Amino acid sequence: MTQAKARVLLIGGSDSGGGAGIQGDLKTVTCLGGYATTAITALTAQNTLGVFGISDVPDSFVADQIKLVLDDIGADTIKTGMLHNKSTIEIVANTIAPFNIPLVLDPVMFAKGGAALLRPDALDTLKNVLIPMAALITPNIPEAEFLADMKIANEDDMRKAADIILKLGCKAVLLKGGHMEGDTLVDILETSENSQRFIQKRIETSHTHGTGCALASAIATGIAQQLPLPEAVARARDYVRKAIELAPNIGKGHGPLEHAHTLAK
Ligand SMILES: Nc1ncnc2c1ncn2[C@@H]1O[C@H](COP(=O)(O)OP(=O)(O)OP(=O)(O)O)[C@@H](O)[C@H]1O
Ligand SMILES: [Mg+2]
Repeated sequence: MTQAKARVLLIGGSDSGGGAGIQGDLKTVTCLGGYATTAITALTAQNTLGVFGISDVPDSFVADQIKLVLDDIGADTIKTGMLHNKSTIEIVANTIAPFNIPLVLDPVMFAKGGAALLRPDALDTLKNVLIPMAALITPNIPEAEFLADMKIANEDDMRKAADIILKLGCKAVLLKGGHMEGDTLVDILETSENSQRFIQKRIETSHTHGTGCALASAIATGIAQQLPLPEAVARARDYVRKAIELAPNIGKGHGPLEHAHTLAK
């Protein structure tokens, strides 16, 4: 039976500030016309100024959320964000594997303010267990430096790093250039057949809390709605760009985006 709405299962951490994490993901999927379900891996106590506490959800309960959602509601894509622990990554991988659903993996390691959202001892498990299952992985520059084990100073380095990450076994890499210097901002989409550049002018703003979460969720929604990957990426970048431009100026730090701009009359 054809589903009325594209379904996206979001696996990640809760952001009490509402801008990133599961809350940002939920808004993104909803505002792009999808149906979002969630499996929460950790609670964070945070606002626009930073992450002040993390409480992990027990692994067995993460697995219960995923299984119950997939057994009944199902999903057209799965998007993972903050996974925090080695054991959480393992349980997520084991639980989703039998369902064989395309996975968009945002390899979240640090919050905008610098807080660690992935424990250092979990990096190898992320590389060896979950990344090989991904249809797409969306690292930012510091994450790509850890995954490819190299420094990234320019676009050539971005392409090299994306190729190294591709060899970990995922089908595609979108290396995000938000953390590079300069007025233009380049994201690189790399597959085994193709390399594509997405270029935009940088918006001068501090309201970029949750851009990475919104981008990956928007791509997962596009794939669930059967857009080809380059089109899902292009639409997601346009969506995030407008969400930054219309950011509501909330909080004293890195403010959230305007996720609901698609609903404006
Ligand atoms: N100032 C900006 N102007 C325009 N686009 C931006 C800006 N900052 C980020 N982006 C875009 O937002 C998307 C997310 O990129 P970024 O590198 O910020 O991810 P991230 O570091 O993972 O974000 P987060 O900190 O939310 O996890 C990319 O497509 C990037 O090009
Ligand atoms: Mg990110």
